[in-house]
Amino acid sequence: MQKITKNKIKDLYKLANDKKFRDLSGEFIVEGLKICKDLIKKKYSICYIVISVSFIKNKKNEKILDFLNSSGVLIFEILDKDFIKISSLENSQGILCVAKKKECKDLESVLKQNNPFFVLFDGIQDPGNMGTIIRTLIAFGIKNLFTINNSVDIYNPKVTRSSVGTVLDVNVLELDKIILNKLKKKGFKFLVSSLNETKKKNIKQIKIIGQNTIIFGNEGNGVSKEVIDIADDFFYIPMKNKVESLNVTVSVAITLYEFLRGEK
Ligand SMILES: C[S@@+](CC[C@H](N)C(=O)[O-])C[C@H]1O[C@@H](n2cnc3c(N)ncnc32)[C@H](O)[C@@H]1O
Repeated sequence: MQKITKNKIKDLYKLANDKKFRDLSGEFIVEGLKICKDLIKKKYSICYIVISVSFIKNKKNEKILDFLNSSGVLIFEILDKDFIKISSLENSQGILCVAKKKECKDLESVLKQNNPFFVLFDGIQDPGNMGTIIRTLIAFGIKNLFTINNSVDIYNPKVTRSSVGTVLDVNVLELDKIILNKLKKKGFKFLVSSLNETKKKNIKQIKIIGQNTIIFGNEGNGVSKEVIDIADDFFYIPMKNKVESLNVTVSVAITLYEFLRGEK
């Protein structure tokens, strides 16, 4: 175990807060004991682990410290006051891991995979929502996810945290209007969840035939004009009692359940 340097603390701060730095370094932070242990067990590409002084001093952590030390992973000790500056949690456990981002598969190879359909997220901003969406997708067997219009970075520590480790299993690709139009020319259908369009259909009337992309919109504004322009169909999940809308994560879960019903 080594004492952490000032420069490493600066890097950690940037990894926690700066998407550009995460992109350049190809690294990201995951926080919490369980996920750090899982990464080691899954032999995921780990750069180093950082543990706080109070984590080390806590008698309850003796066994886990033995496990970490025997894993061969580089470990840095950090003062609690510095750990708090990096952590995205109010009550952190005092352990985090810096891991290498996965190489994302390119669009062509993703399109060749046998997917029941694709999912596209249009400007999702809330990290908690994005993490929960990823967890839900993985639970339904969907490993590829498309984003457009600056959706929150999936390697944001709050996303990795709320994805409960599933972020490591997902392949994410940022698309744009040009790519959407190319997909449309290839015969892709775009099914857009929306409450605002007059032509919208009840989700029960939608049939998934051929290659489809299901689209979900931003928490405040719904789907963007680019998406409305390429839509083949709009659908909604019926709601009672004049509720304005569902949380996007909830609508993802209901939609996937509805469209995957009957799949084994
Ligand atoms: C909180 S809603 C956005 C509400 C926004 N005020 C609007 O006008 O669309 C975020 C996203 O969740 C999905 N969503 C929410 N309620 C839904 C429903 N009842 N049926 C289908 N999708 C829904 C849509 O994708 C929507 O863009």
